[in-house]
Amino acid sequence: MLNPYERSAEVYDLYYNWLDYENHSVTIHQLIEDRRRGAQSVLEVGCGTARYTEQLSRWYDVTGLDIAESMLSVARRRMPRTAFHLGDMIEFDLGERFDAVVCMFSSIAYVTSLQDLASMTRSCARHLNPGGVLIIEPWFGPDGWNTGHISTRVVEGDGLTVARLDTSVREGNRVNMRWAWAVAWEDGDADAYVEEHATGLFTVAEYETLLAAAGFDAEYDPTGPLGRGLHVAVKR
Ligand SMILES: C[S@@+](CC[C@H](N)C(=O)[O-])C[C@H]1O[C@@H](n2cnc3c(N)ncnc32)[C@H](O)[C@@H]1O
Repeated sequence: MLNPYERSAEVYDLYYNWLDYENHSVTIHQLIEDRRRGAQSVLEVGCGTARYTEQLSRWYDVTGLDIAESMLSVARRRMPRTAFHLGDMIEFDLGERFDAVVCMFSSIAYVTSLQDLASMTRSCARHLNPGGVLIIEPWFGPDGWNTGHISTRVVEGDGLTVARLDTSVREGNRVNMRWAWAVAWEDGDADAYVEEHATGLFTVAEYETLLAAAGFDAEYDPTGPLGRGLHVAVKR
Protein backbone atom coordinates (compact mmCIF):
# COMPACT_ATOMS: atom_id res chain seq x y z
CA MET A 1 0.00 0.00 0.00
CA LEU A 2 1.22 3.49 -0.81
CA ASN A 3 1.63 6.54 1.43
CA PRO A 4 -0.94 9.36 1.26
CA TYR A 5 -0.80 11.20 -2.08
CA GLU A 6 2.35 9.31 -3.10
CA ARG A 7 0.96 8.63 -6.55
CA SER A 8 -2.37 10.50 -6.54
CA ALA A 9 -0.74 13.94 -6.23
CA GLU A 10 -0.71 14.14 -10.03
CA VAL A 11 -4.50 13.75 -10.23
CA TYR A 12 -5.36 15.63 -7.00
CA ASP A 13 -6.38 18.88 -8.69
CA LEU A 14 -8.63 17.08 -11.14
CA TYR A 15 -10.21 14.91 -8.44
CA TYR A 16 -11.00 17.91 -6.23
CA ASN A 17 -12.13 20.16 -9.07
CA TRP A 18 -15.41 20.77 -7.21
CA LEU A 19 -13.74 22.77 -4.43
CA ASP A 20 -14.24 26.51 -4.72
CA TYR A 21 -10.78 27.65 -3.60
CA GLU A 22 -11.32 31.11 -5.04
CA ASN A 23 -14.40 32.01 -2.99
CA HIS A 24 -13.27 30.23 0.15
CA SER A 25 -10.05 32.25 0.03
CA VAL A 26 -12.05 35.48 0.03
CA THR A 27 -13.66 34.30 3.29
CA ILE A 28 -10.26 33.40 4.76
CA HIS A 29 -8.91 36.79 3.74
CA GLN A 30 -11.82 38.56 5.46
CA LEU A 31 -11.38 36.52 8.64
CA ILE A 32 -7.68 37.45 8.75
CA GLU A 33 -8.30 41.12 7.95
CA ASP A 34 -11.00 41.42 10.64
CA ARG A 35 -8.51 40.23 13.25
CA ARG A 36 -5.20 41.58 11.98
CA ARG A 37 -5.76 44.48 9.64
CA GLY A 38 -2.91 44.93 7.18
CA ALA A 39 -1.61 41.37 7.59
CA GLN A 40 1.15 40.72 5.06
CA SER A 41 2.37 37.17 5.39
CA VAL A 42 0.58 33.82 5.45
CA LEU A 43 1.91 30.29 5.95
CA GLU A 44 -0.27 27.43 4.71
CA VAL A 45 0.50 24.17 6.54
CA GLY A 46 -0.61 21.02 4.72
CA CYS A 47 -0.62 23.18 1.58
CA GLY A 48 -0.81 20.22 -0.81
CA THR A 49 -0.71 21.33 -4.43
CA ALA A 50 -1.00 25.01 -3.34
CA ARG A 51 -4.51 25.75 -4.53
CA TYR A 52 -5.20 27.88 -1.41
CA THR A 53 -1.63 29.20 -1.33
CA GLU A 54 -2.09 30.46 -4.88
CA GLN A 55 -5.39 32.19 -4.08
CA LEU A 56 -4.04 33.75 -0.88
CA SER A 57 -1.10 35.19 -2.83
CA ARG A 58 -3.61 37.73 -4.21
CA TRP A 59 -3.27 39.55 -0.85
CA TYR A 60 -0.27 38.12 1.00
CA ASP A 61 3.34 36.97 0.78
CA VAL A 62 2.73 33.24 1.00
CA THR A 63 4.76 30.23 2.12
CA GLY A 64 3.74 26.58 2.04
CA LEU A 65 4.61 23.52 4.12
CA ASP A 66 3.66 19.92 3.43
CA ILE A 67 4.84 16.45 4.39
CA ALA A 68 4.43 14.94 0.90
CA GLU A 69 7.14 15.65 -1.65
CA SER A 70 4.75 14.47 -4.37
CA MET A 71 2.29 17.27 -3.48
CA LEU A 72 5.06 19.85 -3.17
CA SER A 73 6.32 19.10 -6.66
CA VAL A 74 2.89 19.99 -8.04
CA ALA A 75 2.86 23.11 -5.80
CA ARG A 76 6.29 24.19 -7.07
CA ARG A 77 5.16 23.75 -10.64
CA ARG A 78 2.13 25.94 -9.93
CA MET A 79 4.12 28.66 -8.07
CA PRO A 80 7.81 28.45 -9.03
CA ARG A 81 8.82 31.58 -7.11
CA THR A 82 7.11 30.67 -3.82
CA ALA A 83 8.94 29.03 -0.87
CA PHE A 84 7.60 25.54 -0.18
CA HIS A 85 9.04 23.56 2.73
CA LEU A 86 9.00 19.81 3.19
CA GLY A 87 7.99 19.34 6.83
CA ASP A 88 5.59 17.99 9.41
CA MET A 89 2.94 20.37 10.74
CA ILE A 90 3.15 18.58 14.11
CA GLU A 91 6.68 19.83 14.71
CA PHE A 92 8.40 22.33 12.44
CA ASP A 93 10.75 25.27 12.70
CA LEU A 94 11.06 27.57 9.70
CA GLY A 95 12.88 30.25 11.71
CA GLU A 96 10.36 32.93 10.75
CA ARG A 97 7.03 34.35 11.85
CA PHE A 98 3.90 35.11 9.90
CA ASP A 99 0.78 37.23 10.38
CA ALA A 100 -1.44 34.21 9.76
CA VAL A 101 -1.12 30.43 9.56
CA VAL A 102 -3.87 28.49 7.80
CA CYS A 103 -4.54 24.75 7.64
CA MET A 104 -7.33 24.17 5.14
CA PHE A 105 -9.44 21.38 3.67
CA SER A 106 -8.95 19.14 6.71
CA SER A 107 -5.19 18.64 6.31
CA ILE A 108 -5.34 18.47 10.11
CA ALA A 109 -7.12 15.10 9.71
CA TYR A 110 -3.68 13.50 9.38
CA VAL A 111 -2.86 14.39 12.99
CA THR A 112 -3.92 11.25 14.83
CA SER A 113 -3.40 11.90 18.55
CA LEU A 114 -4.23 14.67 21.02
CA GLN A 115 -0.54 14.89 21.88
CA ASP A 116 0.30 15.59 18.23
CA LEU A 117 -2.59 18.05 17.90
CA ALA A 118 -1.22 19.93 20.93
CA SER A 119 2.23 19.96 19.32
CA MET A 120 0.77 21.20 16.00
CA THR A 121 -0.97 24.15 17.72
CA ARG A 122 2.26 25.02 19.58
CA SER A 123 4.29 24.85 16.35
CA CYS A 124 1.80 27.20 14.67
CA ALA A 125 1.89 29.58 17.67
CA ARG A 126 5.70 29.76 17.44
CA HIS A 127 5.40 30.83 13.79
CA LEU A 128 2.93 33.65 14.44
CA ASN A 129 3.55 37.28 15.30
CA PRO A 130 1.68 38.46 18.43
CA GLY A 131 -1.93 39.07 17.38
CA GLY A 132 -1.46 36.69 14.45
CA VAL A 133 -4.31 34.51 13.26
CA LEU A 134 -4.48 30.71 13.08
CA ILE A 135 -7.27 29.21 10.95
CA ILE A 136 -7.88 25.46 11.02
CA GLU A 137 -10.57 23.77 8.96
CA PRO A 138 -11.13 20.56 10.95
CA TRP A 139 -12.11 17.14 9.73
CA PHE A 140 -14.92 15.12 11.27
CA GLY A 141 -15.46 14.71 15.01
CA PRO A 142 -15.85 11.30 16.73
CA ASP A 143 -19.63 11.42 16.15
CA GLY A 144 -19.35 12.30 12.48
CA TRP A 145 -17.60 9.29 10.94
CA ASN A 146 -19.32 6.07 9.90
CA THR A 147 -17.34 3.05 8.75
CA GLY A 148 -18.89 0.26 6.70
CA HIS A 149 -19.61 2.65 3.85
CA ILE A 150 -17.82 2.70 0.49
CA SER A 151 -17.86 5.99 -1.36
CA THR A 152 -17.11 6.32 -5.06
CA ARG A 153 -16.36 9.18 -7.41
CA VAL A 154 -15.35 9.27 -11.06
CA VAL A 155 -14.02 12.45 -12.66
CA GLU A 156 -13.38 13.04 -16.34
CA GLY A 157 -10.56 15.37 -17.24
CA ASP A 158 -8.82 16.50 -20.38
CA GLY A 159 -7.46 13.24 -21.84
CA LEU A 160 -7.88 11.15 -18.68
CA THR A 161 -10.48 9.77 -16.27
CA VAL A 162 -9.88 9.22 -12.55
CA ALA A 163 -11.92 6.97 -10.25
CA ARG A 164 -11.58 6.45 -6.50
CA LEU A 165 -13.26 4.01 -4.11
CA ASP A 166 -12.91 4.78 -0.40
CA THR A 167 -13.28 2.43 2.52
CA SER A 168 -12.13 2.70 6.14
CA VAL A 169 -11.39 0.88 9.37
CA ARG A 170 -11.96 2.71 12.65
CA GLU A 171 -10.10 2.04 15.91
CA GLY A 172 -11.34 4.39 18.62
CA ASN A 173 -10.84 7.90 17.30
CA ARG A 174 -8.40 6.83 14.61
CA VAL A 175 -9.63 6.09 11.10
CA ASN A 176 -7.52 4.23 8.53
CA MET A 177 -8.88 5.09 5.13
CA ARG A 178 -7.99 3.08 2.05
CA TRP A 179 -8.35 4.87 -1.24
CA ALA A 180 -8.33 2.64 -4.31
CA TRP A 181 -7.44 4.79 -7.32
CA ALA A 182 -7.78 3.93 -11.00
CA VAL A 183 -6.61 6.26 -13.74
CA ALA A 184 -7.00 5.78 -17.49
CA TRP A 185 -5.58 7.97 -20.24
CA GLU A 186 -7.00 8.35 -23.72
CA ASP A 187 -3.62 7.34 -25.21
CA GLY A 188 -4.23 3.85 -23.81
CA ASP A 189 -2.19 4.03 -20.60
CA ALA A 190 -3.78 2.99 -17.29
CA ASP A 191 -2.79 2.76 -13.63
CA ALA A 192 -4.34 1.42 -10.40
CA TYR A 193 -3.08 1.60 -6.82
CA VAL A 194 -4.19 1.85 -3.16
CA GLU A 195 -3.11 4.52 -0.68
CA GLU A 196 -3.62 4.26 3.08
CA HIS A 197 -4.49 7.45 4.95
CA ALA A 198 -4.33 7.33 8.77
CA THR A 199 -6.46 10.07 10.30
CA GLY A 200 -7.78 11.23 13.68
CA LEU A 201 -11.16 12.44 14.93
CA PHE A 202 -11.28 15.27 17.50
CA THR A 203 -14.09 17.11 19.24
CA VAL A 204 -14.56 20.88 19.09
CA ALA A 205 -13.89 21.00 22.84
CA GLU A 206 -10.56 19.21 22.36
CA TYR A 207 -9.48 21.78 19.75
CA GLU A 208 -10.60 24.63 21.99
CA THR A 209 -8.72 23.31 25.02
CA LEU A 210 -5.50 22.80 23.06
CA LEU A 211 -5.72 26.16 21.27
CA ALA A 212 -6.19 27.94 24.62
CA ALA A 213 -3.22 26.02 26.09
CA ALA A 214 -1.06 27.06 23.10
CA GLY A 215 -1.82 30.73 23.81
CA PHE A 216 -4.77 31.47 21.52
CA ASP A 217 -8.15 33.13 21.96
CA ALA A 218 -10.21 30.83 19.77
CA GLU A 219 -13.64 31.05 18.16
CA TYR A 220 -15.47 28.26 16.36
CA ASP A 221 -17.78 28.56 13.38
CA PRO A 222 -19.74 25.28 13.15
CA THR A 223 -20.27 25.68 9.39
CA GLY A 224 -17.05 26.89 7.76
CA PRO A 225 -16.51 26.72 3.99
CA LEU A 226 -17.55 23.07 3.61
CA GLY A 227 -19.84 22.42 6.58
CA ARG A 228 -16.93 20.87 8.49
CA GLY A 229 -16.55 23.89 10.79
CA LEU A 230 -13.71 26.37 11.19
CA HIS A 231 -11.49 27.27 14.14
CA VAL A 232 -10.30 30.87 14.05
CA ALA A 233 -7.79 31.71 16.75
CA VAL A 234 -5.76 34.81 17.60
CA LYS A 235 -2.40 34.53 19.32
CA ARG A 236 -2.47 36.42 22.61
C1 LIG B 1 -6.60 17.02 1.80
S1 LIG B 1 -5.01 17.61 1.37
C2 LIG B 1 -5.30 19.38 1.47
C3 LIG B 1 -4.27 20.16 0.69
C4 LIG B 1 -4.58 21.66 0.53
N1 LIG B 1 -4.67 22.34 1.81
C5 LIG B 1 -5.86 21.88 -0.25
O1 LIG B 1 -6.77 22.53 0.28
O2 LIG B 1 -5.96 21.41 -1.40
C6 LIG B 1 -4.09 17.26 2.82
C7 LIG B 1 -2.63 17.66 2.75
O3 LIG B 1 -2.05 17.57 4.06
C8 LIG B 1 -0.73 17.07 3.91
N2 LIG B 1 -0.29 16.53 5.20
C9 LIG B 1 -0.70 15.40 5.81
N3 LIG B 1 -0.06 15.23 6.98
C10 LIG B 1 0.77 16.29 7.12
C11 LIG B 1 1.69 16.69 8.14
N4 LIG B 1 1.86 15.96 9.25
N5 LIG B 1 2.37 17.84 7.95
C12 LIG B 1 2.21 18.57 6.82
N6 LIG B 1 1.35 18.24 5.83
C13 LIG B 1 0.64 17.12 5.99
C14 LIG B 1 -0.85 16.04 2.82
O4 LIG B 1 0.39 15.69 2.28
C15 LIG B 1 -1.78 16.77 1.86
O5 LIG B 1 -1.05 17.54 0.95
